[in-house]
Amino acid sequence: MNDNTFPRNWKNPTKESEDSKNGSEVMNEYFEQFMSEFGEEYPDTFSSNFDSENYRRRFMLRDELIMKYAFAIPTDEVIQKLVEMSPIIEIGAGTGYWAKLITEAGGDVIAVDNGERDDWTGKWFEVRDGTYEEVSNHPDRTLFLCWPPYESDMAFETLKLYKGKTVVYVGEGHGGCCATDEFFDYLEENFVEQKGITIPRWPGIHDYMEIWTRK
Ligand SMILES: C[S@@+](CC[C@H](N)C(=O)[O-])C[C@H]1O[C@@H](n2cnc3c(N)ncnc32)[C@H](O)[C@@H]1O
Repeated sequence: MNDNTFPRNWKNPTKESEDSKNGSEVMNEYFEQFMSEFGEEYPDTFSSNFDSENYRRRFMLRDELIMKYAFAIPTDEVIQKLVEMSPIIEIGAGTGYWAKLITEAGGDVIAVDNGERDDWTGKWFEVRDGTYEEVSNHPDRTLFLCWPPYESDMAFETLKLYKGKTVVYVGEGHGGCCATDEFFDYLEENFVEQKGITIPRWPGIHDYMEIWTRK
């Protein structure tokens, strides 16, 4: 894992600031379950848990919860940001957990997934069966990509077809577990980063949210 996986303006949140942002404007049971496991160590989950006796159990908990909810853990702060950026087209939506929260918080989301991954244990939203090509029908919507598949062209092809102005990306960066170098290069060449927002992280994971607008 190299330093490039951190967003450029990454800042460790304080537990207090996260508590005050998570007044449960929408019910977010994934975040609640994460906090019931990591609350005392949060936000320093990466360094404090990797070698602990709890590691194996927590590794299995991550496996269980990402299949039930999503790879990334949403907070009220990032859900509110996505509501502000609505309407949204989400490609590769998985269980639809993020789409459900955005919708319940007042946002407008079309969520699409081609079902390539079909081992989810949860289903939270009416995710449309379709490929990334659907993005070309929605230049008027913000593109939302959350953990696009690793070493797959999906994210790069989606971005090339997207003709709209704004991209919200959640995942790891260059050299991390999402997308390809071509995707990050294309994003940096054609868009400008406006904001990076920290999200809760599973131990060993370096994901974050970034908002980009077209140059
Ligand atoms: C790593 S999962 C992430 C799912 C979800 N966004 C999350 O964070 O949990 C990647 C998702 O992309 C979907 N996917 C892969 N290739 C796709 C394609 N060509 N068009 C649409 N979705 C695709 C997979 O089915 C899978 O649900």
